[in-house]
Amino acid sequence: MHVIKSDPSLSKADTYREIGVQLSGLFSGEHHGLANTANMCALLYQMLSDVNWVGFYFLQGGELVLGPFQGKVACVRIPMGRGVCGTAAARREILVVPDVNQFPGHVACDGASRSEIVLPLVQEGRLLGVLDLDSPNLARFDHEDRDGLQAAANLLLQSSQLDKLSDQAIPL
Ligand code: SME
Repeated sequence: MHVIKSDPSLSKADTYREIGVQLSGLFSGEHHGLANTANMCALLYQMLSDVNWVGFYFLQGGELVLGPFQGKVACVRIPMGRGVCGTAAARREILVVPDVNQFPGHVACDGASRSEIVLPLVQEGRLLGVLDLDSPNLARFDHEDRDGLQAAANLLLQSSQLDKLSDQAIPL
């Protein structure tokens, strides 16, 4: 069992370094996609401040379908190209949204969310889904979050069999 240490005095860069250490421990010798994404959500939710939702959506049947998450209950299906998640997936781009109310078509799940970051998960050229984080604060996510979360997602992608969670139905 891993001990999760969260330290509010850590800088953002040090927090992401610690997240990397913890994820490497959690993923060591464990490749199960569902287990690893579930643990990654819990770790990010515990270690990042001012975050009210962390979770995965996986590409299934041509839409994004809710996977493991921490936070309030969320929308189950998001069409490709819709909202922050569907737009990030369709463009295969990380989207950092400082004010979700200014994002056309934003899909509101938790009314408390004010800013959001979404990272596409691409493995061997195939889009498998997205990692989504919401904050109750405006402009919570910056380039350090973008880099730190991309590094965390890369650890997941290198260690886990995520293709079992997605049917990769969309021809890309
Ligand atoms: N806000 C997202 C929907 C997912 S929830 O935030 C959990 C969007 O616009 O795609």
